[in-house]
Amino acid sequence: MELKDKVAIVTGGASGIGRTTCLKLAEQRVKAIGVADLSDKTESICAEMNAELGREVLHPFRGDTVDGAFRESVFEQMEERFGAVSICVPAAGITRDRLAVKIDDGNGTPELKIYAEEDFRRVLDIDLIAPIYWAMRTIGSVAMDRTRRGLGRWRPDESNQGAIVLIGSAASAGNRGQISYATAKAGLAGAQATLSLEAAYYGMRCAIIHPGFTDTPMAHAVGEEIIEKSVLPRTYLGRLIRPDEIADAICFLLTNSAVSGSLWASAGWRPI
Ligand SMILES: NC(=O)c1ccc[n+]([C@@H]2O[C@H](COP(=O)([O-])OP(=O)(O)OC[C@H]3O[C@@H](n4cnc5c(N)ncnc54)[C@H](O)[C@@H]3O)[C@@H](O)[C@H]2O)c1
Repeated sequence: MELKDKVAIVTGGASGIGRTTCLKLAEQRVKAIGVADLSDKTESICAEMNAELGREVLHPFRGDTVDGAFRESVFEQMEERFGAVSICVPAAGITRDRLAVKIDDGNGTPELKIYAEEDFRRVLDIDLIAPIYWAMRTIGSVAMDRTRRGLGRWRPDESNQGAIVLIGSAASAGNRGQISYATAKAGLAGAQATLSLEAAYYGMRCAIIHPGFTDTPMAHAVGEEIIEKSVLPRTYLGRLIRPDEIADAICFLLTNSAVSGSLWASAGWRPI
């Protein structure tokens, strides 16, 4: 499937994997990309990228991906200006890492510490539920557009109508200290399998990528010592994965019409 002239939305596009994916999509001549991110730098980052690309392709929207009204306004504005949104990479994500169960005996009396429910819910909201809703709204954008044009079930003589890539994680197979994050990312695999079946009716695909430790602010938040001692020795690259390597794989998943499943891009890292 060609990306040229398609309309895309990337969440978390102001940093890391999302930002680099925006650049790759723009290089493939996507018509317009809505960049939805919480960061107060979203506008300036999009302006910088537009300058680098030499055209006004990135359109910033600042807000929380969990907020349904924000999501609807991003889709409505993009649809009104550019037409149906048929590409989506919901990359916004957070971590709230701590051991699931811990005994704290810092002051002599053992105290049971269970991972905070509030943090668990926030991680599930951002990393699991929100990406699924942005993905479903993208399928809805194509479905409504087809309905308005009098088209029903997609036929094999039509071109592929669009694609979604969910961002899982190698940690979805389990990772010490990441109970909420691993749960959310594993949940996305179930969503991908279901959406990919339903989206086919409209000629769309849904895939998932499971990146390993990638050189972005999120990975560095685990701490340089942990990266040196516990991450790098467990990869065959001996370095963090570059965001452009993941963005490249995301573009492959979007463009190859035979792809409907999952891709692991973890440089050999796996849970022990
Ligand atoms: N970096 C890694 O090692 C790695 C590995 C596997 C998967 N991932 C996944 O890749 C995706 C991108 O991560 P990254 O490494 O580029 O991280 P990053 O921290 O560089 O970027 C995440 C972006 O998401 C935005 N964001 C966070 N919460 C948001 C919200 N509620 N609403 C709107 N925007 C929000 C942040 O402002 C930021 O710009 C995430 O889903 C992450 O879980 C990252």
